[in-house]
Amino acid sequence: MAITPEQRAMRYNGYFRRSAGVEDAELTHVGPGTPGGEYFRRFWTPVCMTAQVSETPLLLKVLGEELVAFRDLSGRYGLLHKHCSHRRASLEYGIVAERGIRCCYHGWLFDVDGTILEVPGEPESSPIPGKLCQGAYPVREFNGLLFAYMGPPEHQPEFPLLDTMVQPGNDMVPYAIDYPCNWLQVAENPMDPFHSVFLHTRVTRAHFNPAWGAMPIVRWHPMRGDTGIYLTNTRRWNEYLWVRTAEVFLPAIAQPPDIYQNPDREKFFPRVGITKWTVPTDDASCKIIAWRHFNETLDLDAKGDRDNVGLNKVDFVGQTGVERSYEEGQRMPGDYEAQISQGPITIHADEQLGTTDGGVARYRRMLRNAIRAVAGGDAPPEPVRNADGHIATMAGDVIVRVPPSNADDLALQRELGDRIGAIVESTLELSASERAGVIEERVRAMLEER
Ligand code: FES
Ligand SMILES: [Fe+2]
Repeated sequence: MAITPEQRAMRYNGYFRRSAGVEDAELTHVGPGTPGGEYFRRFWTPVCMTAQVSETPLLLKVLGEELVAFRDLSGRYGLLHKHCSHRRASLEYGIVAERGIRCCYHGWLFDVDGTILEVPGEPESSPIPGKLCQGAYPVREFNGLLFAYMGPPEHQPEFPLLDTMVQPGNDMVPYAIDYPCNWLQVAENPMDPFHSVFLHTRVTRAHFNPAWGAMPIVRWHPMRGDTGIYLTNTRRWNEYLWVRTAEVFLPAIAQPPDIYQNPDREKFFPRVGITKWTVPTDDASCKIIAWRHFNETLDLDAKGDRDNVGLNKVDFVGQTGVERSYEEGQRMPGDYEAQISQGPITIHADEQLGTTDGGVARYRRMLRNAIRAVAGGDAPPEPVRNADGHIATMAGDVIVRVPPSNADDLALQRELGDRIGAIVESTLELSASERAGVIEERVRAMLEER
């Protein structure tokens, strides 16, 4: 029986507050043939760190499919269906060869593209190699991550080279973290910057910097072509206004700016601390596969630690299920505890969204529209490219010295947050080499004109 509004609002109403019990399958299910799964398969996605891939095959699950990744003796990466085309022994027990991988059971040899090179027990004239290929996906290595395209071959898009992936003087350290929950719980988190005020600062202690505990003014904007959402996140901290832009590209790329940002001086558009993909393993588990960025414009207080970035580890608290005990997680929960504790697949119908959830609601809405558009035969829209030919991204920090207004400081924050966000957006297509300089020029001119 459905709960009535009176029962919902009454005290001691535990008896009536039963779960609706049905997950939002359209958004959360990712297996082959599901609308969400077909949508996800239209994008390149990282599947693991290359450091995990060797001559010993690596068993993986991605989008509900069991796969085996390996590097053959000539150094080429392969990503094949787990079960051998012959009689389904697992290629995780395969032996890599100069070219491809050999199934342990009867010695069939598969190239990295699935071509059957040898069926040694069959007659020389066997028709099998000519009429069959092992299931395989194209892969590409980039800076320590192995990416795959698992969609229809005729729709393979260009590799997503973001402007933040090719910055001179920037070190990108790969990492991968397992989350035992649905991908959307993890992927929607960056559109909710208010959790940083509470989870990361006020509720226990400051995980990053005390300035993160100031309540921000947040605005969400669709990216051109509805390829994703960016937000502006504006706070006052003493004499400074801190305007942070962050973004999510559909389906699940997110870029938070400097995670140890400290608004103690003016800064003009240092870029991102993290570039991350949330990659569904299956409907009830996922991975963050990502890079931490290190360069001289980020983390000026030197709180990061690149040696603590890798497989199931990253250099800030509360991000994995292995670094701390359950009790430690209870005493100072982080993103990991908050997100996995929503359940294997959280029930949206049981939520009570408020005004601070505007970004999460927008993201889900945009995602649903995108899934339906692809199911209806549309191609996913192309992201904006900058003058260098790279995908232009929005995330970064602008920190300017603007003393508090005696009249209405919140109105001032709102106005300048909007104007600085618009300036960052106006520079989207510039070459990365000139962008920070132009942002500084335009922000200073705007402040002078006021
Ligand atoms: S099961 Fe793989 S060769 Fe027979
Ligand atoms: Fe967080």
